[in-house]
Formats: sequence, C-alpha cells, structure tokens
Amino acid sequence: MTSKSKKKNLPWNRDAPVSNGKPAQGFTINTGINEIHNEAPVSPREMAREIKVTDRDIGVLFPSLLFKSRVADRDFLNEVKEKVLKATKDPDMGTPAGKPDDPIGWYSFDNLHQKEGFEDVHDFLLRESASVFQYYDYKVEEVYLTAMWANVGYSPYYCHMNHTHPNSLFSGVWHVSVPNVGTKYAQTTTFSDPRPGARVIEPNVNKDFAAHNSGTVSPIVKNGSLLMFPSWLPHGVQQQSVADYQGTPRITISFNAMMVGSIDTRTAPIRFT
Ligand SMILES: [Fe+2]
Repeated sequence: MTSKSKKKNLPWNRDAPVSNGKPAQGFTINTGINEIHNEAPVSPREMAREIKVTDRDIGVLFPSLLFKSRVADRDFLNEVKEKVLKATKDPDMGTPAGKPDDPIGWYSFDNLHQKEGFEDVHDFLLRESASVFQYYDYKVEEVYLTAMWANVGYSPYYCHMNHTHPNSLFSGVWHVSVPNVGTKYAQTTTFSDPRPGARVIEPNVNKDFAAHNSGTVSPIVKNGSLLMFPSWLPHGVQQQSVADYQGTPRITISFNAMMVGSIDTRTAPIRFT
C-alpha cells in the first residue's frame, strides 16, 4: 500500500470544499459530508412508481469550524523548537521539566507571547487569529492574544485530558514538532463532538469515519501545522503507540485570542477592553 492510498483512508482527508458554505480566502472547510452514497438501497421496498428526486443537497447547520494551515519553514520551526527546549531548563519560564518518561510533560507559563525571543511566533499567531475573526465577520476593534504557552511531551505516554479554553473566543494549537510525523500515529490534537445529544446512538459505518459520523476527529498534522477553533470546542492529546514511537518530543504552542470592542445587543450589552 502506498503512502498516498494510506492517507486516503484516514478520516480527515476529504478535502472537497463545501459548496453551500461561505468559503474564506485560504481556508477549506472539510466536513467530510460532500458525497452522498447511493450504492446501497436505503429502503427494502421496491417503489411501484419511479419518482425522480432532484436538487439533493446537504446543509451544514451550526458547524464547529476548524481552521487548518501550516508553517513549512524548517529553519523557523527548528529555531522555535530549540528556544522551547531551552526554556524547559529555565525555572522562570515554566513548570519543572519532566523526566523523559513523564506523561505530564513540561508547560511554559502562559505569558510566552510577552517573552523575548517569541515575538515572531506571537505576531504570526495573532495575524492568523485575526483572520478567523474576519471569517466569522465579527465586528471588533482589535484582536489580541490573552495567553500563549508551550507544551512539551517527551514520550508516547504524553497526553492531555479533554478540555476547553474558558474566557476566550478562539484558540489554537501550533504543532512545532510532531512525534511519528508522516504516519497514522502522528501525535495530533483530537477534537470531540460538543453536542451531548449527537452520540445517543452510534451506528457502525461501512467505510470511513469522518467529521459527520464520529464523536472524535483527529486531524492529520505535520511539523508546523496550525489548528484554530472556537475555544469551547473540546480537545485533548491521546497517548501514542510505544512500539511506533520515534523519540521525537511533541512540542506545541497553544494560544487564546480575544476581541477588544463592544457588543451592543439589546438587553445583553458588554464591553471587552
Ligand atoms: Fe487546549
């Protein structure tokens, strides 16, 4: 099996754009529901009369958007990787560095965006965050990062429980270094369905699981992949197969983005400064 055909079988690889959405510049929204399969009959009854149905379409209601992009500049990625690894040795930069087999890993303090040496990272993540606000067409005076922090996992045991980011509109995870990159074991960020009622019945599927028929989605990431999403969307990091672990630390930089501006909805006004 070639790597190309392997990739095709993975759930997050249906990259056909949604035709009935509002495509943003530079973004492809991938719902995985762009094909309607009619190979199998949906009803056991034979129709007495052929009734032609036209204008089939699928509407996407209340989508949880995941914005995907990538920094492919290896020099920049290596530079950031080295800076983060150096920071793990500095008690002023974060939690005490974990042992090599520590599943908790190392976390920087959440003011990394204000630290010397991380200006470029802050600037590009802020710019990308602003594009998300723009896509949503939110009326804001300014966008800023309220927090930015690095996470380092040293072993395949590294994991992070499912969580959301409170007090924030949009969040992101920039994957600086990905263990097992290029394989199906690449340690990505896993997202969970935020709708409690949607998983009451979970049928098996004939082909692939995708965003519309499964409770979790693990996007394929490479070194430099950036994922941005609404801060209320639950996400976490799953442990990896020890047998396939290549010894590369998992290094990500996470951040929260907020707005400056007023919401003047009648009976519900609020000012964010
Ligand atoms: Fe997170």
